[in-house]
Amino acid sequence: MKLGIDFGTSFSLPATSYLGQNVVLLPGGRYGIPSVFYYSEWDGVLIGEEAEEAGQGSDAKNLKREIKLELNSTFTADGKTFTAKQIVGHILNSVKQNAIETAKTKLIDDHLDGVVISVPAAFEHNEKAFIREAAEIPIAQGGPQLKVLGFIKEPVAAALAYFNTSLADKTRILVYDLGGGTCDIAIVEANSASKEKYTVVDSDMLRIGGKNWDAKLETYIIHELEKQTGLSISGNPGYKEKIKRAAISAKHSFSEKVGNNYRDRVRARVEVNGRTYQIPLTKAIFDELTLDLLNKTIDVTKKVLERNNANGIDRIICVGGSSNMPQVQEGLKRAFPGKSIQVFEPEKAIAVGAAIYAQFCDGKDTFLSDIAAFSYGTDCCRDYDKDPDDMIVVNLIKRGDRLPITQDQGFSTTRDGQTKMYFDIIENSNAVSEYDYERGSVSPIMRVVLEFPKPMPKGTSARLHMTLTTDGIIEVTADDKNGHTITAKKQLNF
Ligand SMILES: Nc1ncnc2c1ncn2[C@@H]1O[C@H](COP(=O)(O)OP(=O)(O)OP(=O)(O)O)[C@@H](O)[C@H]1O
Ligand SMILES: [Mg+2]
Repeated sequence: MKLGIDFGTSFSLPATSYLGQNVVLLPGGRYGIPSVFYYSEWDGVLIGEEAEEAGQGSDAKNLKREIKLELNSTFTADGKTFTAKQIVGHILNSVKQNAIETAKTKLIDDHLDGVVISVPAAFEHNEKAFIREAAEIPIAQGGPQLKVLGFIKEPVAAALAYFNTSLADKTRILVYDLGGGTCDIAIVEANSASKEKYTVVDSDMLRIGGKNWDAKLETYIIHELEKQTGLSISGNPGYKEKIKRAAISAKHSFSEKVGNNYRDRVRARVEVNGRTYQIPLTKAIFDELTLDLLNKTIDVTKKVLERNNANGIDRIICVGGSSNMPQVQEGLKRAFPGKSIQVFEPEKAIAVGAAIYAQFCDGKDTFLSDIAAFSYGTDCCRDYDKDPDDMIVVNLIKRGDRLPITQDQGFSTTRDGQTKMYFDIIENSNAVSEYDYERGSVSPIMRVVLEFPKPMPKGTSARLHMTLTTDGIIEVTADDKNGHTITAKKQLNF
């Protein structure tokens, strides 16, 4: 089977397409596997609910949440240090194992032929390279390496799942995906008459999600608890974990209906030093505390709509667990009167869309046409003789370019006797051919070094070639006139 995996900041889930049916592969109707890692000398590595179960009280220090947004971090528990790649590898392996076991019970082919992983709409090159490596770690030590067949942007995956259930011939929808860590937007068109069945018209993203809503409530609860107990709470990981759980539970309560209305008050209960304290919370306070977050997600939605003729889009499809919050639907309705706001399979849509895409990976160029989330270029001097410090970045590929795309450009040496030419590859969000750049202000994602056979005269030319694949992966080579070619293999980061 080919597996689609929605690797989320808070929850991860696998799905596959089998005999024309799209099925989420989790036992017992579970919502998802919490993307949570725990380690202790006694328990070893635990993932998901088991990790949450173990990581309470004084063991909360052994618990790692939300690793997806901290891919260059490490985590130490009981004296053992784990890289983010190992942690993500463990989480993804648990997801794959759950999928295999569930496939067995459903009598679906349980041999893994590869996975598609959904990623945020503007995940950087290095983040994707990282996820690929983590996803290819064998499940069992010495076991077979699993192939990542491709990546798909999360809101685009959700659009595929949506179109799969109600495909009108030519429809443009906007997907608003508010998950645990990011808010992802995409405008996607379904068009059975065109060469590509699905076209991504535009996409964007903010690093804002449910965890930021939690954080607002946590700060509020900490403040109230400190008033009630007279203790300093914020520095203690055991209390922090308890408060986080109380905050999430309160947040979820405000999405529940009591009769016809949403619940408007709850008591958060937190035990400190053996005594349970109660903190009254109202939905009005919650909505007020988090209004700026909601508004930021609405602003980015507006921006994307405005640059793409908002009138042609009458439907906003909301996915992601945080779309369950009534404030989100109310906010979108207020901001976009006249548009239909529809919550669609908020927890499953992305995994299902990734599974659908996995079936088409062989012919993906005709199935889905996506656009570049970033521009890619190299830094060089505007005019070395005039001012060697006057630098620019020349973009070969521009944000918004349709994928796949290959571009090349000539560059020449600036000094006599140069034996090497360096091309540092800069990932950026400037959709222009060139822009002013301060040397060293950002770290390049790759470096290509072209070595000449002998010292060359000033003005010796070389060409830089860049390809951005359908999956948004950048490939870079450079060559000189003698057909001498060099490929960038090494990432500089992570
Ligand atoms: N009923 C609900 N009310 C409020 N928030 C909810 C509800 N259900 C889920 N959430 C929140 O949704 C978030 C998880 O959503 P989801 O599973 O879509 O995110 P994710 O895929 O883990 O994250 P991301 O896609 O950002 O990496 C969590 O912050 C969770 O608390
Ligand atoms: Mg998600």
